[in-house]
Amino acid sequence: MARILVTGGAGFIGSNFVRQLLSSDPSTTIVNFDCLTYAGNLANLSDLAGNPRHEFVKGDITNREQVRAAMKGVTDVIHFAAESHVDRSIQDSGPFVHTNVIGTQILLDAAREAKVAKYVQVSTDEVYGSLGETGLFTEETPLHPNSPYSASKAGADMLVMAYQHTFDFPAVITRCSNNYGPYQFPEKLIPLFVSNLLADESVPVYGDGMQIRDWIHVLDHCRGVEAAWRRGKPGEVYNFGGRCEIPNIQLTKLLLSLLGKPETLIRYVKDRPGHDRRYAIDCSKAESELGWAPQVPFDRGLAETIAWYKANTAWVAAIKNKDYLSYYEKQYGKA
Ligand code: NAD
Ligand code: TYD
Repeated sequence: MARILVTGGAGFIGSNFVRQLLSSDPSTTIVNFDCLTYAGNLANLSDLAGNPRHEFVKGDITNREQVRAAMKGVTDVIHFAAESHVDRSIQDSGPFVHTNVIGTQILLDAAREAKVAKYVQVSTDEVYGSLGETGLFTEETPLHPNSPYSASKAGADMLVMAYQHTFDFPAVITRCSNNYGPYQFPEKLIPLFVSNLLADESVPVYGDGMQIRDWIHVLDHCRGVEAAWRRGKPGEVYNFGGRCEIPNIQLTKLLLSLLGKPETLIRYVKDRPGHDRRYAIDCSKAESELGWAPQVPFDRGLAETIAWYKANTAWVAAIKNKDYLSYYEKQYGKA
């Protein structure tokens, strides 16, 4: 019976993962280890209260004692915890290096001591850098991170690979493209724009809006992480993507039309410094070796996500009371 330490399980992807795995596999117990930064929210887990197979531990991956204590009896580790927002990393890279690099090193040491059967490092396609107009990221694409966020994630990936190589540590790495879905913190494009538009506020499109992202529903990503945990080979990297490339401005106009809002709410603002132009994933290795494939069509997933944000305005309002909204103005100034 697996007892999995899931780090960052109160965040967007982690909370979706925990919910999905608890319902699909009755033999699994989860220790959900999260220090509840601005992005971690116990409200994301409220429906799991009282579930005897889910134990929440408030702890910090950069704290060796807390990590060691939580690791007792753990058979596997799935590591989601991170500072995850590119704009914040441009403003201050310190927490990104501390959490994403040092935190991963501390977790790796504790997982090695505990002799876990499998360790999954949840990484990102952003470690590969930016694509031109053609081509896709494969697992062989050299790492070329461009933002402090992606550099810190690439640093963590390199440590994981080094531990796997040096200590024969049973680690796999997953690299996924941009996720969307319920419980995503409204600083990322889709939840920010949806929540702004629901309040009849404008949406800030960076630069010319022609940057491309490859969108994947969070539950497809979670299924991929689970498949990598169950069937991934130590030392291997698996890319996940939605085969769904959309320029930001096209996505913005789609959101406006789905919400019945006028295009006058589009506000073109100064571009993000060092902005990656295009991400797109070749996920054929995960398909052939893990038996995984993205299942949620973008139109259905987006409609369900919008419905979720409409039904959960109190969740968004509670978050908006925190300081995050000032990040945009602090970094780029008023447009
Ligand atoms: P998120 O910001 O929503 O959640 C991160 C969680 O980690 C929060 O609950 C936070 O409290 C926790 N955390 C942060 N620092 C911690 C620390 N020091 N100790 C313990 N917990 C800590 O992020 P997300 O979007 O859910 O991303 C989860 C993971 O997936 C990250 O590793 C990210 O790099 C990766 N990823 C995200 C995307 C995406 O589109 N969001 C795509 C690919 C990969
Ligand atoms: P984001 O959700 O921050 O994810 P990432 O930077 O990790 O890809 O941004 C997605 C895309 O949307 C990216 O090209 C930046 C752009 N963007 C805007 O144009 N305006 C915004 O307010 C935000 C948050 C993002």
